[in-house]
Amino acid sequence: MNTYDIAIVVGSNRRDSINRKLSEALAKLAGPSMQCRWVQIDDLPMYNADLEPERPDSVNRFTAEVARADAVLIVTPEHNRSLPAVLKNAIDWGSKPMERNVWRNKPAFITGTSPGAIGTAVGQQHLRQILGILGSVVLGGEAYLQFKPDLIDADGTLTNDGTRAFLQGHVDRFAELVAALARR
Ligand SMILES: Cc1cc2nc3c(=O)[nH]c(=O)nc-3n(C[C@H](O)[C@H](O)[C@H](O)COP(=O)(O)O)c2cc1C
Repeated sequence: MNTYDIAIVVGSNRRDSINRKLSEALAKLAGPSMQCRWVQIDDLPMYNADLEPERPDSVNRFTAEVARADAVLIVTPEHNRSLPAVLKNAIDWGSKPMERNVWRNKPAFITGTSPGAIGTAVGQQHLRQILGILGSVVLGGEAYLQFKPDLIDADGTLTNDGTRAFLQGHVDRFAELVAALARR
C-alpha cells in the first residue's frame, strides 16, 4: 500500500480551537494510507519582504514542512467572512519566492467549522480562490460545518452519524485525489 504524507494546517492560533478539534477528528477518518501531521503556523512573523534575505527559522521550518508533504488539509475558521490573518500570513510566506511557491500543484482539502449558521462558507471561498491562484489542486465540493458543543466528543470522535458520513465522503475523495496525482 502506498502511503501519503498529509500536512494539516489549522487556521487558528486559539488554544481551544474548535477547528483544531475538527482537524483531529478528520485525521481519525483518514485511512492508513494518509499519514497525518500538524504544521505549526502561529510562530511565523508577519510577512515582510525585508526578512527575505535571511528568512527566520520558523519560516524555513514551515515552508519545508509543507513542501515535503504530498498534500495539505486546511481546517480553518472564518474571520469576518474571510480567512484568518494567521492563515493568510502562512500562505503568503509559502508563496514566496515565486519559484519556490510550496502551494503549486499541491493537492488540498479545505474545510472548517464555526458556530455560525453557514459554518465558514464565505471564508472557504476566499481560501479556495487564493489557493487556486497559487496553483494548488483544491478538492471540489463543499464541506462547511456549523459547530455545536457536542459535535466532537472528548476522544475527538464525531458524534453525529450523518456528519461523520458526510466528512468521511470528503476524506475518501481527498485520498483518491492525492493517490491519482501521485501516480502522474
Ligand atoms: C475576529 C473574528 C472574526 C470572526 N468572524 C466570523 C465570521 O465571519 N463568521 C463566523 O462564522 N464566525 C466568525 N467568528 C467566530 C469564530 O467562528 C469563532 O470564534 C470560532 O471559535 C473560531 O474558530 P477557532 O475556535 O478554531 O479559533 C469570528 C471570530 C473572530 C475572533
